[in-house]
Amino acid sequence: MYSNILRHPGPTPIPKRVQLAMSQDMMSHRSEEFVHLFRETTKRVKPIFGTKQEILLIPSGGTAALEAAAVNTVSPGEEVVVITVGAFGNYFVSICEKYGFHVHKLEKPWGEACTAEELAAFLKPLSNIKAVFATYNETSTGILNPIEKLAAVVRTQTDALFIVDGVSCIGGAPAEMDQWGIDILVTGSQKAMMLPPGLAFLSVSERAWKVIEENKTPAYYLNLLSYRDWAANGMTPNTPAISLIYGLSAVCDLIEEEGGFSQTVARHELMKNMVREAMKALSIGLLTADEHASPTITAILCPEGVDLGAFLGHLKKKYHLDFAGGLGHLQGKIFRFGHMGYCFPSDILEAVALLEAGLQDFSYAFEPGTGVVAAQKVFLAAPKR
Ligand SMILES: Cc1ncc(COP(=O)(O)O)c(C=O)c1O
Repeated sequence: MYSNILRHPGPTPIPKRVQLAMSQDMMSHRSEEFVHLFRETTKRVKPIFGTKQEILLIPSGGTAALEAAAVNTVSPGEEVVVITVGAFGNYFVSICEKYGFHVHKLEKPWGEACTAEELAAFLKPLSNIKAVFATYNETSTGILNPIEKLAAVVRTQTDALFIVDGVSCIGGAPAEMDQWGIDILVTGSQKAMMLPPGLAFLSVSERAWKVIEENKTPAYYLNLLSYRDWAANGMTPNTPAISLIYGLSAVCDLIEEEGGFSQTVARHELMKNMVREAMKALSIGLLTADEHASPTITAILCPEGVDLGAFLGHLKKKYHLDFAGGLGHLQGKIFRFGHMGYCFPSDILEAVALLEAGLQDFSYAFEPGTGVVAAQKVFLAAPKR
């Protein structure tokens, strides 16, 4: 049996070393060994977030950490701005509405980013905003919002907290939480972090802790003060995902062996460019402009004359190549090529070659090899790693 070549936005492939690390024997989460593992591992994750603050680990999907960020900072009736450029921005809207926040929605068409100028203009007439929520990488469209610039607008124009969903890019995109002025940055394990689903990461600025300390909305399992207090002693309030934390330690080894996090970011940038140039060479459209293209996922328009559902099914069945389809109104119109985490330029060459094989099966008119050569050119032109 072949295993599928998983080119999804997550869950993503898990490195063998991480799998082996996760198979270590269980231990008590109140033991000295756990305290050592927790302290050492979370310390090594800090450069990935670009923070000196504690990294809090919640045994959950990314959504729980997004919810924790919302419920711990804002109370019902308070005003927030949510920037939404796709399906996952709308997630944040739903969470905020569920908790009864007064939501001002800055909505952009799917496939576009929110610019600093647009945010500045949107915030201008608003005077009482408690928090601005944004998605760093919109997984449904492959947009990387200019989060550093958006943070600068929030910092200079308001006293609001800036809360960022980095679920589908942290670990593959640059993040300088402290320097950029992000107040809460969230991610999940199953994407660029090269782990199975089940672990959420969250870091909180000093400013945000002050707001959280004063917030009156009750939270129990997602009470961040409780996570902070326990983390001070190298532990978590409840039973943690111990196996995933073992795995996380191995992920940190891999990133450090790659030459540090900046090299990991450079690899993602390279893979993005390889995919984009391959599609352009094949005359297949891209949903997003180069300027705001995601380093972890590329949304690709349906090749002309091809039945997309049948094509994706065929790629999976015949070539074991598994791409993700479009979400919402983009279903049947785009497919999404994941290139994050445990994914290398060689994987891009493989996927483009198999994609080309499928295109030939579907009688798409092109010169075979065009996409592979274009991707290869980008790879060969990149600085030697
Ligand atoms: C940008 C973004 N935010 C949030 C989520 C939700 O994360 P989870 O499914 O781990 O709860 C996802 C999942 O794909 C995502 O891509």
